[in-house]
Amino acid sequence: MRRHQLVLLAVLAVTRQCSAEDAADSSTTASTYYQVPSLSKDEAYLFEPFASSDLFDSPLSWVQSTSKKDHADSTEVEKYDGEWAVESTNVSSMAGDYALVLKSGAKHHGIAVKLDRPYSFSGKPFVFQYDVKFMNGQECGGAYVKLLQKGSLSDLKQLNDKTPFTIMFGPDKCGKETHLRFIFQHKNPQTHAYEEKHWIEPSSLKTEDWINSKKSHLYTLTINPDSTFKIYVDQNEVGSGSLLEDFKPPVNPPAEVDDPEDRKPEDWDERKTITDTNAVKPANWDEEAPAKIRDPSATMPAGWLVDEPQMIYDEGATKPVDWDVEMDGEWEAPQVENPKCKDVGCGDWEAPLIDNPQCKNGGCGPWTAPLIENPAYKGKWAPRRMPNPDFFEDKEPYKMTSIDALALELWSISNQVLFDNFLITDDKAVADKVATATWKLKESGESTSILPAGLDYKTIGIIVATVVGLLTIVLVRSYFRKQPATNVRTEAQTGFAQRPRPQSGGGETDTTVHRDIDANIGDIRRQTETTTRVLEVEELVDDVPPLEGEAGSGDNQESPESDLDVEPEVVDDDTNTATKDDAAVRKRRTVRRE
Ligand SMILES: *[C@@H]1O[C@H](CO)[C@@H](O)[C@H](O)[C@H]1NC(C)=O
Repeated sequence: MRRHQLVLLAVLAVTRQCSAEDAADSSTTASTYYQVPSLSKDEAYLFEPFASSDLFDSPLSWVQSTSKKDHADSTEVEKYDGEWAVESTNVSSMAGDYALVLKSGAKHHGIAVKLDRPYSFSGKPFVFQYDVKFMNGQECGGAYVKLLQKGSLSDLKQLNDKTPFTIMFGPDKCGKETHLRFIFQHKNPQTHAYEEKHWIEPSSLKTEDWINSKKSHLYTLTINPDSTFKIYVDQNEVGSGSLLEDFKPPVNPPAEVDDPEDRKPEDWDERKTITDTNAVKPANWDEEAPAKIRDPSATMPAGWLVDEPQMIYDEGATKPVDWDVEMDGEWEAPQVENPKCKDVGCGDWEAPLIDNPQCKNGGCGPWTAPLIENPAYKGKWAPRRMPNPDFFEDKEPYKMTSIDALALELWSISNQVLFDNFLITDDKAVADKVATATWKLKESGESTSILPAGLDYKTIGIIVATVVGLLTIVLVRSYFRKQPATNVRTEAQTGFAQRPRPQSGGGETDTTVHRDIDANIGDIRRQTETTTRVLEVEELVDDVPPLEGEAGSGDNQESPESDLDVEPEVVDDDTNTATKDDAAVRKRRTVRRE
């Protein structure tokens, strides 16, 4: 077995050991055990802090949807088969804290739970609160909650996108578009039909930041009996207003509308100007001659560059880092105005246009009669206004349809979305008390954690073990390097360490350039202190296409130090023009390209 393989095995063994110890530790390291707050029956209509790790065994019984999206061409893809789980929140200061987790990416997820008792909008404030954390950020998907209309779903398994809700509230994102949704269903008192009313979000919302932070954020909605509302995120007010004024379309329709029966009279003249029918063409008007001609006395200015293009590719432009050839096509530098054209001009030169001197007497070109004001002009016609037959005035949109279930009906591209501490109450003080005892603790645990989000002790253990292992490889290698006598394969044979210094410049061929670069990488790797320079040179080498008959040479370039098994190259010292300077490599590459 080769030396470096042995070292690799050692690294693996250390890594295994590390993670095994970590796993054994994790059950005992918890110093504080999180205590789920308890609320009295009359404080909340629903309170779900996920006290137990078993979702379907909790006092509230959550039900996963087995339905599919409700439209005609429903296919397999439209099933609500996204997975849900209750998992530890893994916040070190919150041992014993669990959350509901949306587990599958790119799937429809449906889950619902009945309230302890229905909430009816009968004179008390409505307060809804929960916290959500996007462990993996979100590319496209919602984390909003639907509060279902009482009696709309006798079997929660039937939950789908058409299940009637009263309120929908929470963050939503797709690509660059983010929303903090607050939608309510308003019942038309005349037709009894429901219509969605969407909150007009202020531009100051930081929804994008809340979603991308990968931390828990607390969303609170309060609706008062006077139909005013407030929205808080992390207990800070981020929006407020009235159900009557801040929604689209508005709750109440306009009192007056256009009369659909009213028609524009036949003789209604909307033309502001008309052509003067009394005007006649002047006798000496020449319809054949052009009104403008090229100035025959003009000459091309000195310094005009006929062969220079007006626009050139911007040499300073670089391909954007997030450019995706598959999505965006091949990248081309943008075009800019040619600076050489600034002084005089470029391209085909044409004499400037001047008035045709032949037209001096009357006029040239096609003749048209002039326009005059229309004496019969009556202005723009508009239909008569009439009282809106569908008019109603609902002064209390607060009085929404009662709620008896909470549902998550979500499409999500990203997985690991954590939901926690669902609360419906009629007292904001209860919501604040719950926030202090739940989200606030978790939030401070998340922000004081010494580990960045997504990095646990196990991962860190593996990283440390790998670094130690790599250092060991380097040490072992340099130890053997110092004792060439005991080593079957000396550095001179491998051809990496003891490259001859440059001798002469002539006779450079493709093959030698290629070898030079190999040699330079070996040298530069040992001499540069920062990895950035190594990366730079590797990039340069990647740009050089492999030579014919040199299959696999690309692998050698990638990591020359790990290639002790490869037969040493034959290097012709006389044609070797290697230098240590990576600038030389760069220069040579340019030469090759030309
Ligand atoms: C918490 O850690 C466990 C074990 O590493 C993991 O399976 C689980 O997904 C983590 N929970 C969350 C919410 O990330």
